[in-house]
Amino acid sequence: MSIDAGPRLPRAFDAGLAGQFCRLDRSGAPPIALPVRRWRADANRSDRWLLRACQGPTVDLGCGPGRLVAALAERGVPALGVDSSDVAIRLCRARGAVALRRDVFEPLPGEGRWHHALLADGNIGIGGDPVALLHRVRGLLSRRGSVLVELTRRSGLWRGPARLVASDGSDSGWFPWAQVGLDALPAVAASAGLSVRRSRAGRRPYAELTPTA
Ligand SMILES: C[S@@+](CC[C@H](N)C(=O)[O-])C[C@H]1O[C@@H](n2cnc3c(N)ncnc32)[C@H](O)[C@@H]1O
Repeated sequence: MSIDAGPRLPRAFDAGLAGQFCRLDRSGAPPIALPVRRWRADANRSDRWLLRACQGPTVDLGCGPGRLVAALAERGVPALGVDSSDVAIRLCRARGAVALRRDVFEPLPGEGRWHHALLADGNIGIGGDPVALLHRVRGLLSRRGSVLVELTRRSGLWRGPARLVASDGSDSGWFPWAQVGLDALPAVAASAGLSVRRSRAGRRPYAELTPTA
């Protein structure tokens, strides 16, 4: 089923990236508070699973202010952040991380050669169609590459219009978004030609996906 939820908005996350407390309104589902402090902070222990999985050139899709890109670079792992927001790219570069302002669905450097692609902090929701996104991300990977995804603690798959509402009352406008729980991931991944190599449940659930033969 395709959901017509409107256009992708390149600046939808800007209020949160700039440090305002934000909630995410989801059509037909309860709103959720967004971890904007984590986006702007340095990488911490809860990012370790993701960081350890990246053993070669890594592209961080929807990198935000770039804590993971910077942490990978510090570990000697070549890393590129990609984000559609000027605010994100400015913050990224200010902390010394390499970043490109680009929509993830547009052509990117190194297509077919990345060892890892990161979709951290719910970014599997970008575009509102996780199968289409993972299919696109699969095209970025080398033959033995992997996608590292962070999932929601909630079960199932939610897709629909969402918007950010900031503490000053401003909102982003509605854009298509999605959330994927660990239980829903195998079917979503399989539809994109990927399979779940390993996963970790917990406060921040993660999974590593690899191309199926
Ligand atoms: C939920 S925030 C996550 C930030 C970062 N990954 C983190 O963990 O701190 C989502 C980020 O994805 C970016 N984004 C949303 N849609 C995008 C798209 N189509 N292409 C590139 N970046 C996008 C937003 O600008 C925002 O910085």
